[in-house]
Amino acid sequence: MMLPYALIRPALFALSPERAHEVTFGSLHTLRKLGLLKPLLGPAVADPVRIMGIDFPNRVGLAAGLDKDAAHLDELSHLGFGFLEVGTVTPKAQPGNPQPRLFRLPSAQALINRMGFNNHGVDNLIHNVKTSSYGGVLGINIGKNAATPVEKANDDYLAALEAVYPYATYITVNISSPNTKNLRDLQGGDQLDQLLSALKDKQKQLADEHGQYKPMALKIAPDLDDEQIEAIAQRLIHYGFDGVIATNTTIDKSSVSHLEHGQEQGGLSGAPVLSKSTHVIAQLYKALGDDIPIIGVGGISSGEHAVEKIRAGAKAVQIYTGLIYKGPALVTECAATIELNCNPKRALRMKRR
Ligand code: FNR
Repeated sequence: MMLPYALIRPALFALSPERAHEVTFGSLHTLRKLGLLKPLLGPAVADPVRIMGIDFPNRVGLAAGLDKDAAHLDELSHLGFGFLEVGTVTPKAQPGNPQPRLFRLPSAQALINRMGFNNHGVDNLIHNVKTSSYGGVLGINIGKNAATPVEKANDDYLAALEAVYPYATYITVNISSPNTKNLRDLQGGDQLDQLLSALKDKQKQLADEHGQYKPMALKIAPDLDDEQIEAIAQRLIHYGFDGVIATNTTIDKSSVSHLEHGQEQGGLSGAPVLSKSTHVIAQLYKALGDDIPIIGVGGISSGEHAVEKIRAGAKAVQIYTGLIYKGPALVTECAATIELNCNPKRALRMKRR
């Protein structure tokens, strides 16, 4: 049985978005402590798939940003996800932008955020991972501190990679948040080459040190033109990156500018980014084929949307804003719809009948 989220949502939406977030996780924590979370939510969909050399139990993951400090892994592990991505974490703790910095646009099924990588730093995140009982696939998404000049960005990424390496199943390099000044400049030119090359060298060194290779994925923006997408794809191939996550939030707010909060500064997520991000996935797939797996994220609020991302070339998907509007039932809906429509083994079985 699923939580009746449609009944809970009005009460949550009466609170500020950040307060609603705290109340939700507070309630999930209490339900878990009472042993009620598992019976309420039921088992996760089984749709095993191997991506970046990792065995995922199903193809629906939590997108970065919801659990920046990995503080809620034990609660999130009950929601039916095949994998969880935490962060963005930066080497040092930082407060992020002043509140309010997160806005709901309910008629557009969207959010605008300018959180600015608020997080308690990499040491705190590692402590939380170590003390949680989550044993599933864990992506750790890394970024740079706001106070670090963009010319020194590589130092922050390398420090964060080194720190999280032993605790992550895979690492995501986030160069696409619109809320850290000049961060998205890292998506092109010499800066991209230098960053990818330094990260790959570090990854090799860490793999030797720890005796275990951990895949690395690059997370990109939806606001890139086809030429920029192609250029990034070629760099990913050149440096042997393991995966790419498409996409982050968009800075194009033209579709919501008439709505209350529609002109707030920050990145737009949810329904308005759906087709933009699917376009990026399709363009990436043209260049990468099955050589470098794509994880699709942006605007998924139904099982059909999740299937669209897989059909565009993604091997797995992630969700964030859809969870706020639809609740945790969306996870299982997406995983089950993908399993039903995109499972090659099932298609083969049907054909043989
Ligand atoms: C995000 N997102 C995000 N991404 C990231 O790589 N690091 C981060 O810290 C955050 N933080 C964050 C905060 C908030 C409030 C939102 C709404 C989003 C982006 C997120 O992971 C995802 O890529 C986009 O939101 C698009 O997916 P959805 O939300 O449309 O499913």
